[in-house]
Amino acid sequence: MQEKYIDENKQGEAIATAERPDNSKKLFLESYGCQMNFSDSEIVASILNEQGYNTTQNVEEADLILLNTCSIREKAEQTVRMRLSQFKNLKKDKPSLTVGVLGCMAERLKTKFLEEEQLVDLVVGPDAYRDLPNLLKETDDGRDAINVILSKEETYADINPVRLGGNGVTAFVTITRGCDNMCTFCVVPFTRGRERSRDPHSIIEECKNLWESGYKEITLLGQNVDSYLWYGGGPKKDFKNATEMQRLTAITFSQLLDMVAVAVPKMRIRFSTNNPHEMTEEVFRMIAKHENICNYVHLPVQSGSDAMLVKMNRQHTRQEYLDLIKKGKEIVPEISFSQDMIIGFCGETEEDHQQTLSLMREVEYDYGYMFSYSERPGTPAHKKMEDDIPADVKQRRLAEVIALQGELSRKRMQGYVGRNHEVLIEGTSRKNENQWKGRNSQNAVCVFDKLEGQKLGDIVTVFVHGNTQGTLLGKTV
Ligand code: SAH
Ligand code: F3S
Repeated sequence: MQEKYIDENKQGEAIATAERPDNSKKLFLESYGCQMNFSDSEIVASILNEQGYNTTQNVEEADLILLNTCSIREKAEQTVRMRLSQFKNLKKDKPSLTVGVLGCMAERLKTKFLEEEQLVDLVVGPDAYRDLPNLLKETDDGRDAINVILSKEETYADINPVRLGGNGVTAFVTITRGCDNMCTFCVVPFTRGRERSRDPHSIIEECKNLWESGYKEITLLGQNVDSYLWYGGGPKKDFKNATEMQRLTAITFSQLLDMVAVAVPKMRIRFSTNNPHEMTEEVFRMIAKHENICNYVHLPVQSGSDAMLVKMNRQHTRQEYLDLIKKGKEIVPEISFSQDMIIGFCGETEEDHQQTLSLMREVEYDYGYMFSYSERPGTPAHKKMEDDIPADVKQRRLAEVIALQGELSRKRMQGYVGRNHEVLIEGTSRKNENQWKGRNSQNAVCVFDKLEGQKLGDIVTVFVHGNTQGTLLGKTV
């Protein structure tokens, strides 16, 4: 299954940057997992660009292979292990080749990686990328190198990311890093560390630069965008201990949205991921207020059952979630929602499962990302609860949830038929090179015939005349 907005065929695809003519070394860099990893890889490429590396998509000519990894589920880790094993022969043929693991698996497994995977020379956690030049000096001298120190401050605010393998039209802009929520099933607080917000001025500057370089859509990224908080003097999580002055001048996520929407008035703006327990209706008001903020919210819920939500430590009830959705639909009538669900979490009963299905029907999500629960070592759920739902039951329930989401998606897509939509041209359709693909404001993918004079990055009005489960079929008006 694909991760959010990361094209399925981009997972693990080597990424390319503009060449620097004086750079002589070759970097092969692959990303796995979430948008944040893809965004972090752009920071890594930028740092290594300064160190004499150009990217290559041909692994055979690489001097340095880096995998930016994901730990969210066991399967994600297995994928990376498999990929690593494919580099064994390369390393035999070229002993000078350095192989490094970045990101969440590096953070989770630390030195274990160097012990278990003989082939790995370099292990770097998500907050230590600035140290790459030093670490590479060590590997050049034939030593293994590791830095998995997590930071309370690092936001890479001053690093101008090299935009990788993109379409030159859509880009990610990181606004917060880490997560303090401690959902019991989740490894992210352990692999990405404490939550911190990035200086709004650097965010706005990056957005303006993107607009000037021809980008037409940005996605503001954070594990938890709703907890964005910036005080006059800097980021400070502890609202209670802030001075009165700091509190009065603090910038929240909805205010940041307001600032960005004004700073780049023609840029399309998306954001991800919202968290139901911290999201406020102010965010919906900003969507309603600004034409350039898209009518779409990805609002993970994980389960429709109160008992499960408590066990997961999600800090909101089913009803509170539904109230938030209702508010969103009132304030932004054209809004669409998507979900994340975890199926078969510890102790999930048939009744809990039915609650999930009924919540989905009530919300009518456009789209969903649904996975069976995968126990992660070290998480509160692993320590205190039993992963007791048999695999076949998880599979059956997951299939029911996916089937229902299919129905709901189809219904929602049908609702878009017979009307005009503003679609940003993001590329050529994978199935037909005479067609464009893009998304409407609600994030629904739309394909339509190319017309003379249209180009990548144009926003065009498309009349939608049909649909499949996940795609709108249209023609330019
Ligand atoms: N706030 C984050 C969530 C990161 S994890 C974001 O930016 O999306 C993404 C999704 O993975 C979660 O919403 C959850 O549905 C799923 N997930 C997390 N831990 C999981 C686990 N142990 N097993 C199965 N799915 C998990
Ligand atoms: Fe994970 Fe919950 Fe944070 S899902 S990323 S701990 S909001």
